[in-house]
Amino acid sequence: MDTRQQRLRIAVQKSGRLTDESLDLLRRCGLKFNRGKDQLMCYGENMPLDVLFVRDDDIPDLVQEDVCDLGIVGLNVIEEKRLAMAARGAPPRFELLQRLDFGRCRLSLAVPDEFEYAGVDSIAGKRIATTYPHVLGRFLRERSIAAEVVTLSGAVEIAPRLGRADLICDLVSTGSTLIANHLREVEVVLESQAALVRTPIALPDEKADWVRRLLMRIDGVQQVKESKYI
Ligand code: PRP
Ligand code: ZN
Repeated sequence: MDTRQQRLRIAVQKSGRLTDESLDLLRRCGLKFNRGKDQLMCYGENMPLDVLFVRDDDIPDLVQEDVCDLGIVGLNVIEEKRLAMAARGAPPRFELLQRLDFGRCRLSLAVPDEFEYAGVDSIAGKRIATTYPHVLGRFLRERSIAAEVVTLSGAVEIAPRLGRADLICDLVSTGSTLIANHLREVEVVLESQAALVRTPIALPDEKADWVRRLLMRIDGVQQVKESKYI
């Protein structure tokens, strides 16, 4: 049998907000691995679990296309993907297993310093730049606000200065990106944190067992974390 069949693969963000804490969680779960520089994949030394480093936005697809069995990704990415697929009439083929209690951030509306904001109706008729068109679209529909969604693939925070949009809808973690770009947060669209997703495809017994073990260890890690706060 092909060895790939017997080993689990987990996708984590290559370099970004979730990378260090994702790897830290796997280490606390007991996984030993060495990550060389620029290495795209690490072999687990003491568990049949390998780590694949990818762009966070690619994680839902890698999991639903069964390239990876598991993935650690933000709820923001998961929710955008879910809504995008639903809009195409395709149910998402990844399963949310567990919220991981790190990587907390929010998807928020933010306006330039000079924008006169007096409640959410102030954005009616405006252009909003975002990389989350579906989550933003739902927010606007639920409030019956007609605004133009400008979908960008990155550098959303400079869109107002470039005249491409009047305001933005982007992730806010520490808030320093907004401050650096003379923007202020005015409305939370979605609360996010890291989560574990899995393929909906039934796994062979041995792999399924390792997923169960991993989930139990994650539970253990989270309990230790909680007990430290009590
Ligand atoms: C987000 C977002 C901002 C930044 C905000 O990017 O796009 O650039 O984080 O963080 P701050 O409030 O702490 O300044 P993310 O890490 O998700 O990377 P990506 O969008 O490139 O995947
Ligand atoms: Zn991303």
